[in-house]
Amino acid sequence: MPRYRLLGPFDQVVTMTGMPLKGPLADEQLPVLKQGGVLLEDEKIHSVGKYADLLGTANKVKAQMVELERPTVCLPGWIDAHTHICFHGSRAKDYALRNAGASYQQIAREGGGIWDTVRHTRQASEHDLGEGILLRTQALLKNGITTVEVKSGYGLTLEEELKMLRAIKAADRQAAQDLVSTCLAAHILPKDYDGDHAAYLAEMAWELLPRAKSEALTNRVDAFVEEGAFSESIIAPYFQKARSMGFQLTVHADQFTTGGTAVAVDHHAVSADHLEASTAKEITLLSQSEVIAVALPGASIGLGCGFAPARKLLDAGCALAIASDWNPGSAPMGDLLVQASVLATFEKLTNAEVLAGISFRAAAALGLQDRGHLSPGALGDLNLYATDHFREISYHQGMLKPYQVWKRGEKVFSVDE
Ligand code: NIG
Ligand code: FE
Repeated sequence: MPRYRLLGPFDQVVTMTGMPLKGPLADEQLPVLKQGGVLLEDEKIHSVGKYADLLGTANKVKAQMVELERPTVCLPGWIDAHTHICFHGSRAKDYALRNAGASYQQIAREGGGIWDTVRHTRQASEHDLGEGILLRTQALLKNGITTVEVKSGYGLTLEEELKMLRAIKAADRQAAQDLVSTCLAAHILPKDYDGDHAAYLAEMAWELLPRAKSEALTNRVDAFVEEGAFSESIIAPYFQKARSMGFQLTVHADQFTTGGTAVAVDHHAVSADHLEASTAKEITLLSQSEVIAVALPGASIGLGCGFAPARKLLDAGCALAIASDWNPGSAPMGDLLVQASVLATFEKLTNAEVLAGISFRAAAALGLQDRGHLSPGALGDLNLYATDHFREISYHQGMLKPYQVWKRGEKVFSVDE
């Protein structure tokens, strides 16, 4: 027998259903149900509607009534579509150096940066890495993040990348959220590799990717296309091989210099992430493609540089997701709601564009359709905020946290417990 629960009545249920994947959104386009309710059937949503209209069905199926004692707005569980939360060690020294005037690239050239985290991550056991991921997913849960993408990319040898991917898989089994893992072996050429960029990527393509596949560790492959990381031409055969093996592709694109967006479009990547350096050319390329543009305001805040041109991307007709990029180097904060709200004030984004960017548009950046909106059949991933209007969320700039979070139909976080 399925288990039914009726949640409500809510002041507002913001369902995010039936909204366009691409282009600008006005707040008036948000589907808002006043005095709404959500009927859960096991891990999924059975129906969403006016609370009074759901009562009949709820009684028929003997649903448990979950009534709320405070003003509440119900929204989908948020999706953080780009993180590097599998790591070991601190880069506080890099941060201080940057604030004292050194650049991210300069620190990297001198042996700090990503390489510093690689050295620390290699020293950690798979178990330690898993514990680190779980600590960070617990923090994310309090912000209402119910799906978290997690990249490898601090191992950079066959065995060390496998260790990271296995740690992510193990953490997925224990975390309240769904973790979506991505292989980022193409992060940088490891300094101790005996060969060039092409030889390294060939090794990863022919040895790591088949192992990742056979152990069902991930179905996604990412690459950092950038000066000092991997060039467009060097990445092409790696991406061709990954795609031929059925991996979904995503790109760290246009963070400091352009080039990555063209790679994402040419190789039919699901998303192009960063885009701080994107120009009109890259915006046009993205708008004419199915690639989701992912802004990472946490990296702009962490590095003290400009934001991705979110307004221009939307106005050109792109699909814009917003993710945290939580990592020990460029984006140590890890608070998606704070970052998305700050991006909104600088880039002039509507509430609807922000909420879409961390819900169904973020799901699309992971190739997922079953979440990020409250519709029959979608996952029962819900955020309950103690307020009577959704616009309070951006207004509080990320400091208004959900008082309850539901994942796959279960209450997984409550401030009262
Ligand atoms: O998305 N840009 C490349 N990779 C990460 C940063 C990783 C790090 O600095 O450790 C990013 O910003
Ligand atoms: Fe990143």
